[in-house]
Amino acid sequence: MKLDPRQTPIVHLRAGGTSLIVDTTPGTASTDTASQPVILAWGPDLGDLSEPALQAIRTASTATVQAGELSDESRLGVIPLASSGWMGRPGLSGHRADGSGWSPRLVCTGADLEGSRVTYQLLDVQAGLDVELVLEVLPQGLVRARAELTNTAPAPYFLDELSVALPLPLTATEILDFAGRWGLERAPQRSTVEVGCHLRESRHGRPGFASPMAMFCGETGFSFERGRVWGLHVAHSGNGRTWVARTSTGRQVIGGGELLLPGEIALGTGDSYRTPWIYGQCTEGLDDAARQLYRWERTLPAHPDVERPVSLNVWEAVYFNHDLPTLTALAERAASIGVERFVLDDGWFKGRRNDRAGLGDWTVDADVWPGGLHPLVDRVRELGMEFGLWVEPEMINPDSDLARAHPEWIMRARDELPAEWRHQQVLNITIPAAWEYLHAAIGRLIDEYGIGYLKWDHNRDLIEAGDAGGRAVVHEQTLACYRLMDALRAEHPGLEIESCASGGGRIDLEMLTHVQRVWPSDCIDPHERQSIMRWTSQIAAPEYLGSHIASPRSHTTGRVSDLSFRAGTALWGHLGFEWDLLAASEEDLAQLRQWVTLFKAHRPNLFSGDIVRRDVADGSMWLHGVVAADRSSAMFQLATRERSPLSPRGMMPIPGLDPDRTYRLQAVLVGDGPDGLVAPPWAAEGIELPGSVLGQVGVHTPLLNPDQVLILTVRAV
Ligand code: DGJ
Repeated sequence: MKLDPRQTPIVHLRAGGTSLIVDTTPGTASTDTASQPVILAWGPDLGDLSEPALQAIRTASTATVQAGELSDESRLGVIPLASSGWMGRPGLSGHRADGSGWSPRLVCTGADLEGSRVTYQLLDVQAGLDVELVLEVLPQGLVRARAELTNTAPAPYFLDELSVALPLPLTATEILDFAGRWGLERAPQRSTVEVGCHLRESRHGRPGFASPMAMFCGETGFSFERGRVWGLHVAHSGNGRTWVARTSTGRQVIGGGELLLPGEIALGTGDSYRTPWIYGQCTEGLDDAARQLYRWERTLPAHPDVERPVSLNVWEAVYFNHDLPTLTALAERAASIGVERFVLDDGWFKGRRNDRAGLGDWTVDADVWPGGLHPLVDRVRELGMEFGLWVEPEMINPDSDLARAHPEWIMRARDELPAEWRHQQVLNITIPAAWEYLHAAIGRLIDEYGIGYLKWDHNRDLIEAGDAGGRAVVHEQTLACYRLMDALRAEHPGLEIESCASGGGRIDLEMLTHVQRVWPSDCIDPHERQSIMRWTSQIAAPEYLGSHIASPRSHTTGRVSDLSFRAGTALWGHLGFEWDLLAASEEDLAQLRQWVTLFKAHRPNLFSGDIVRRDVADGSMWLHGVVAADRSSAMFQLATRERSPLSPRGMMPIPGLDPDRTYRLQAVLVGDGPDGLVAPPWAAEGIELPGSVLGQVGVHTPLLNPDQVLILTVRAV
């Protein structure tokens, strides 16, 4: 429905329990004739509001102005601009060669309202800039925004940034975001909001290990369970920026956008740049925020089926040492414990005997695989498993036939190549011929071997990522990657793709619209993995999260863990193995069969239910659970990562259940169960209690040694 913003300046978008009120009323101020969209309210649903009520909200939110300040009220647009009196980070910055166009003033010339989505046409005639701004409240209550800038003037426009910002109340005083490194992704960090800007940037050409992932800002002490919290996520797999800023004028925003490199976006006449989607969430506690995202993810066309096949990835079992008899034996062992997908990792293609050579040459190495991959693939199929293959399409080793044939396809910003990283460089897939080469090469492999699954790796940052002329092309490279994934999936129905980037270096909400799995970390040590999974779960539903049972001694940390801790930790994502199962004992194999059976019995609920996370007692134990959508059942893990000065540790509420139903709570022991288990009477026998009692009073906390997991099931009786 077309709206005349002069007649209907205020729109109230409502969906999924969220309200977003947007105003384009021109200000009374001389500085504010621009009337670009301003958010008056964002938060829980405000109910049906009449036109006069919306006008009253506008009046109520008009700021006071006093001497010594800007003469008229500054207005914080969704794209913050100095022309509206905003002195903080601008949302649109750029210029023309003659220095003009650096301070746009956007006027709203039209709007289109469709349900809970409004599209604004914004114009700056003098600057020759047109912006289409979409604001939407999704059925799950998520808010999202996206802007597209078009240059309408004859001269080129050099765009530095186009981002959006959403207003926060001053009661949001604490920030949560994430740091990390290889093998330790998504390490949470908290800080206090002060006047100034908490800004996180990714210049890695991928979100990276230290990606803020999402930034949350909420009431002091907000937790999984409680505290109003606002979150923002830049859904983009290249460079990005996220920030929370408070000004001394009493304004606070949470903002984000793509980070553009100098000269990266030069818009000719009629050319456009479109931002990624920026997602906003306002919820009570972090669990609600995660649940809201899962509900949205589960509507995506590319979302995977709940029957996630149990996988075996051979990386930590054989690394680059590929030989048919060993891999065949591994496949047979895997099938014997219930594995459903066999994934051949790095090392299968031409010249790839180690990580120094071969990337780019996507044909099977004839020396190692004289019969091609057929003998292995055929055996895998005979055993009833699907076959998956590792690729790293966007990368190239200087020591490869491809690099020798096309040195001009390697990204660089100058004559010299960028710094090496794992002996590899980045293939410029914005070059149509390079993109087509990959498309054809990978497509041929999929066809020849009937590949159902690609593990798509990306093992370095993009440094000095320029094209043949040295112009930065990270933006285009990122879009070209999405196009390649989409084209391969469209041409090979049923193909699944896993996004891996030396572990969890490329996990974001846009990637989740193209792939079916992500690899959260190369660190499979369950002690570390507990935390990595806990926090990656904040944005990605568990069905996306690759979750493997590795060898007793972690290849990343050297820590040795019990099988029950490794398996009990892995159960909570898309289960797989990454272990030389040929070295596993008969007793281990028997227990692994039980874990696989448990996973298969519970995966439909695990991958459709609601997440619940809690700290238990003094926080030395973590409770993590999934409650079925209809709350008829649930499964929890109680994990200990540390010893505690408290023993015993008091009562443990079991959250998320229907208070009006009675449930049977029971511990599930696989093998001998977790080490050091001192089970209170309820755990040994099982117990029936109303959901209200389980949620409010709880049960006495079992004791476990550190680095152990106890699995609990709950079923309505
Ligand atoms: C990094 C990945 O995260 C690993 O799982 C493995 O696939 C290696 N790359 C292979 O080179």
